[in-house]
Amino acid sequence: MIGIRIPDDWKGTVMAATRRGILAGSVLAAAACTVSAASAAEGPFQHGVASGDPLPDAVVIWTRISPPEGAPRLAEVLWDVAEDEGFARIIRSGRAETGVARDFTVKVDVTGLAPGQRYFYRFRSGAHLSGTGITRTAPAREADVAALRLAVVSCSNHPAGYFNVYRAIAVRGDVDLVLHLGDYIYEYGASGYATQFGRQVGRVPDPPHEIVSLDDYRRRYAQYRSDPDLQAAHACAPWLVTWDDHEFTNDAWMAGAENHTEATEGPWSARKGVALQAYYEWMPLRDPAPGGSFEAINRAFDWGQLASITMLETRILGRAQQLDPAAALAGLTPGSEAFMAALAGLNRAMADPERQLLGPAQESWLAGRFAADAGRQVRWNLLGNQIIMARVPAPDFRGGLPQDVITRLVQALPQAEGYMDLAQLGLPLNLDAWDGYPAARERLYAAAKAAGVRLVTLTGDTHSSWANRLVDAGGELRGVEFGCSSVTSPDFADTFNALGLDGSLIGPLIASGAPDVIEHHEGQRGFVLLDVTPEAVRADFIAISTVFARDFTASRRSTWRWDGGAAGLVAAGS
Ligand SMILES: [Fe+2]
Repeated sequence: MIGIRIPDDWKGTVMAATRRGILAGSVLAAAACTVSAASAAEGPFQHGVASGDPLPDAVVIWTRISPPEGAPRLAEVLWDVAEDEGFARIIRSGRAETGVARDFTVKVDVTGLAPGQRYFYRFRSGAHLSGTGITRTAPAREADVAALRLAVVSCSNHPAGYFNVYRAIAVRGDVDLVLHLGDYIYEYGASGYATQFGRQVGRVPDPPHEIVSLDDYRRRYAQYRSDPDLQAAHACAPWLVTWDDHEFTNDAWMAGAENHTEATEGPWSARKGVALQAYYEWMPLRDPAPGGSFEAINRAFDWGQLASITMLETRILGRAQQLDPAAALAGLTPGSEAFMAALAGLNRAMADPERQLLGPAQESWLAGRFAADAGRQVRWNLLGNQIIMARVPAPDFRGGLPQDVITRLVQALPQAEGYMDLAQLGLPLNLDAWDGYPAARERLYAAAKAAGVRLVTLTGDTHSSWANRLVDAGGELRGVEFGCSSVTSPDFADTFNALGLDGSLIGPLIASGAPDVIEHHEGQRGFVLLDVTPEAVRADFIAISTVFARDFTASRRSTWRWDGGAAGLVAAGS
């Protein structure tokens, strides 16, 4: 069968807000992260501070000023980096100019820092002081590093719930890095995907229409970055970010997107260009060197001898268009000659050895990285990746769900009927994932095998959590994959629950037909806390109790560990 692309509106068409009330305060108000992330509802620093892309001697720091109405088109901001929270030992300072041309965002690549150090930073504008951020530099490349702790997140849809996941990370105060694997913003308007809760509590997308223009994208980032929980998570640690599709629009690929219509929304290249501009203005990542490509967000970081962290680009650089079985088979009688021919054509296109996901330039860059890391005996290769890499066949919904559940599902969501029919054809669950690009996946695995690296793929996109084996076409284990749940975006199970159906049926159903999936869990928001040591990588799947109230609890739902050996993932206790 053809794989199935999961439409976002199917994942969360109906989402119940479990609680309408917003409780004052939070059980987590006593933050372990001691910075004053507070940015002020007044004053110029309304969007907080952020940092990212740490190198052994440099880190990017970020803020934005909100100039008063009628202010000049240019503004000056001063910045300090200190060794102590009280800024008694300031070791770097400077001034930066910003203005309308870059939406009054400020980004400084602070150099001349010491490796493996924690730093504090802040900005000044006139008499106003920003909140203080905590950041750190990477250890020296040759350093023996005992431990690295990452929080891995993705899919933070502002109207879909409160950013309690970000708050949970901030209050820990103990992560070295936050990896955001994409869908940092969503492009939809006020009545789009997963906006019901937002309309109840005033988290209505701004602007209220689907974002298309530069001003639209900027306003959307500004809205998200006004969120205190997101500001706190940014202020607590440096981030490594990459985008997925929704920083552009749904199911983006090299030359277009499912949610882009040239006739009414203009050329794809123009929309992609303004989305890129706003992203680089608002996100704490290093700009490309002069003349470099803003599209090539793929970049790599070293954490001493312990780990290499490679952030991938799987959307706009090289991705061939997603296959669409629903369109290819529309109007054809199942089992007919024409139907079987169309099905064979889809499978042929999917298996095309030339089919691209990363694109040739990024593929050879990645192979080079693997070889270099192997040459200096880096212990772990972490891949920051958008879409599920492991093989996940579409489950047999009709055989695996009770008949009354299917009947009620189809009554409530007629589009589920066709989706389940496609699932019967033996295709992958999601053709927007690596499963839709099997030759590209094998090329990545071959490069990893040739270099002998221990691959740990970290993945977003699905709004649900995964512990997977990565197995190549020859049946060999190439690595492991940890997929994080979302910050807020709903998944299949939420759709079921909202329809009054049992959402807990979905996770086991998907896992049962997928030998490479060790654990798959749906229906809970959260993040992966990844502890990396020379002996093992350990993933704690942290789940939070709700995104529909400010009060929440965070708890460890399961833990998986890999020592780099052929045995693969092992369940771990505390
Ligand atoms: Fe998402």
